[in-house]
Amino acid sequence: MNPDPHGRLDDLQRNPYPHYERARQTKGLSFLPELDAWLVTRDADVREVLRRPHDFSSANALRPDVLPAPTALAVLGGGFGGRPVVVTADGSRHQHLRAPIVRGLSPAKVAAVLPYAAERATTLVDGFAKNGHAELMTAYARRLPGDVVGRIVGLDPADVPAAVHGGYRAEELLFRPMEEAGQVAAAQDVVALQHLLDTYVRDRRANPRDDLCTELIKSLVPDAEGDLTLDQRHEMVAHLQNFLLAGHLTTTALIGTTVLHLLRHPGQWDLLCAEPDRIPAAIEEAARHDTALQGFRRVTTRTIVLAGTELPAGSSVFVAFGAANRDPARHPRPDEFDITRTPGRHLAFGLGVHACPGSQLAREQLRITLELLTSRLPGLRLADGRAVTMRPTLIHRSPQSLHVTW
Ligand code: HEM
Repeated sequence: MNPDPHGRLDDLQRNPYPHYERARQTKGLSFLPELDAWLVTRDADVREVLRRPHDFSSANALRPDVLPAPTALAVLGGGFGGRPVVVTADGSRHQHLRAPIVRGLSPAKVAAVLPYAAERATTLVDGFAKNGHAELMTAYARRLPGDVVGRIVGLDPADVPAAVHGGYRAEELLFRPMEEAGQVAAAQDVVALQHLLDTYVRDRRANPRDDLCTELIKSLVPDAEGDLTLDQRHEMVAHLQNFLLAGHLTTTALIGTTVLHLLRHPGQWDLLCAEPDRIPAAIEEAARHDTALQGFRRVTTRTIVLAGTELPAGSSVFVAFGAANRDPARHPRPDEFDITRTPGRHLAFGLGVHACPGSQLAREQLRITLELLTSRLPGLRLADGRAVTMRPTLIHRSPQSLHVTW
């Protein structure tokens, strides 16, 4: 084992599966020093944690794996946000914050954005279809979800690239070890995004529109008129930043891993091209097999015994959706990628009160993507001689780059 703690975190982030396997086979729970948390890996244990939100609070769900340097924190101090958001809230506060998001992602709202999503996806594929090769993460997977979630929030399309960039920089800053100068630069990018979002918040307060930004302001700021206070602006920017990140990085990751695993199994890709009605099953299998959001933290609110291990109040646990999805007790042959398997109920989109409200939108973007790629580029293959490395992250697991040919 690498003695360098950052090296060990990197190893874990790039390939968490051996860690899960060891933990599943160990009696009780295992403590993982890389995450400074108890690792919950069995399907039944993960479900139990998610069904007991009073005992397992989400307050630490976004706790950084790496604490930024004081200079980077000082830069962040000049931005907005830093307030609890839906994913870190509990109880009635959580329900209050979640309600406008669930409305903003209702089946009708998702249906309304699909023509735009399909048009964007087609334009992106048109952009590289004649080339015979592409790097799919840059040319497609990092673009479609940002455009779609930006549309739902109400961003001007011209602002989407900056919003996407700011999301990646926030993730790097909080979850990746970096040199101090790099941290300061990342913090500056995050603050730039926050100032951009603040302009939207103030504009939509003055000029309401039919978008999620307006919906959040109306629901979460009680008084109907007047300028928002500085504190309310901080809160709104935090919600928007969190929503954007939750919406695009995850979906980008799942597009990347889905195409990767299909192309690593050319027989399954060819089957999907021949029988596109298998696309929904392929999406579920990809979401299960290499889960984009590998896990989130929870913290115990009192002494709890889980899987025979006593956890005092205040214990941090890492609830590994990605490990549960490889538990042989729930999914036979769990390490095999097989789009023809009888689907079992996976946890890629969580469960319980915090379960993903964007899962339908994500699945629709995957469907659009696979329908386009299987019909337009059935000869798609991984490019020869290009090893695929995974991005070092447990919250948006995806290929770093995906070179393909056809
Ligand atoms: C493949 C794509 C996606 C995956 C794998 C995913 C996964 C998840 C998971 C596992 C959770 C539960 C977190 C927890 O229990 O603490 C969650 C929550 C959430 N997701 Fe997604 N998600 C995806 C796409 C989206 C999209 C497209 C949106 C919005 C446009 C979205 C918005 C949210 C929000 C707001 C929450 C927090 C809900 C709450 O705390 O009540 N997600 N997501």
